[in-house]
Amino acid sequence: MDQAIQNQLAQRLLDYAKRKTTAMASDVLEVPVDSYLDRDVWQAEVEKLFKRLPIVACLSSELAEFGTYIAQTIVGVPLLLTRDADGTVNAFLNVCAHRGAQVASETLCAGKAGRFTCPYHAWTFDNKGKLLGIPDSELFGTVDRAAHGLTRLQADERLGMVFVVLTPGVAIDIDEYLGGISGFFGKECEDLDFVGTRTVKGGHWKIVVDGHLESYHFSTLHRNSIAPFMMSNCSASDQFGPHNVITFCARSIDSLASVPEEEWRPIDHDHIQPQFHFFPGTLVTLFRDAMLVQMVRPGSTPGESTNRIAVARAQHPTSTRRSCTRLPTLWRRKIMRLATISCKAWPRERTRRWSSVRMSFRPIISTKALIVSSWRTDGPSR
Ligand code: FES
Ligand SMILES: [Fe+2]
Repeated sequence: MDQAIQNQLAQRLLDYAKRKTTAMASDVLEVPVDSYLDRDVWQAEVEKLFKRLPIVACLSSELAEFGTYIAQTIVGVPLLLTRDADGTVNAFLNVCAHRGAQVASETLCAGKAGRFTCPYHAWTFDNKGKLLGIPDSELFGTVDRAAHGLTRLQADERLGMVFVVLTPGVAIDIDEYLGGISGFFGKECEDLDFVGTRTVKGGHWKIVVDGHLESYHFSTLHRNSIAPFMMSNCSASDQFGPHNVITFCARSIDSLASVPEEEWRPIDHDHIQPQFHFFPGTLVTLFRDAMLVQMVRPGSTPGESTNRIAVARAQHPTSTRRSCTRLPTLWRRKIMRLATISCKAWPRERTRRWSSVRMSFRPIISTKALIVSSWRTDGPSR
């Protein structure tokens, strides 16, 4: 993130901390509970927001190599993401043009494949969606192969993430959609290495997102984890259309008062912690050399959601083995907190298979026991 932006955020938070206040809206907003419980509202959110706006499907670094792919279902839409030989990320419905079977297996979920053979009758498609082969094609008469490829969806890579629109034919200018929030991200976000991903389950998607948009709960819910080093209820807020940036404030912010501003490094020194909310359900936390992305998506009922958490970090020049001990304190604690929550809730859930990287937090509840050396890049998952 640009140094001037960091310093400006730190200035505001220093001022809030001094005055024991936080960013305030002009008035109190009461939200009717129906917006969380009403099934029609929830259905409209799924259809109009998650299926028709650009949402983050994965990190760019998850598709780092040519020929890689990811198959996943988001709000009931089977999605296939590929990186082709030109380096372009493509998004398709993971639906065969013949009889609708999934051409890429979600059991394997991700890997490397230049072509996909449908498991039903073996029609074959390349990773640009083109129909290549039809067994016994002479029995079909004339088939317009160009019209029977995989159905393409809009896909754009921005800020180290892949944005997709899940409805075929809907086109949205991604840069216009993101607007000013892009200005907070440096080029370095586009050059990170994928570390790992896991998916956890939660309640209503808005409840999950809401919890990330305030620091009011730090001193109670996180009194033993985050509160010892972060201030409760002291945040800066910047709105960009439907998106916003919430910047949290570390207790160490006071120390900046005695340092000339040109020497400030608020993110590097863990004085501030920006978190980005890309409407509707993506939360991005930037660290000194890493990025944590939470892709919150409605589940199959209003009371269910999934949170696909993915991590990328700057490449370490001298080692293929990554240890959390090298990560900044704030980053380490946040990762361990997420891992602890995940392990508590789903101790036997398998982490996703990945051809060259795996994240294998040990399924042990104690934070102490989450051994920091469990981040590995040393071979395929087994
Ligand atoms: S459904 Fe895919 S080949 Fe028949
Ligand atoms: Fe929290």
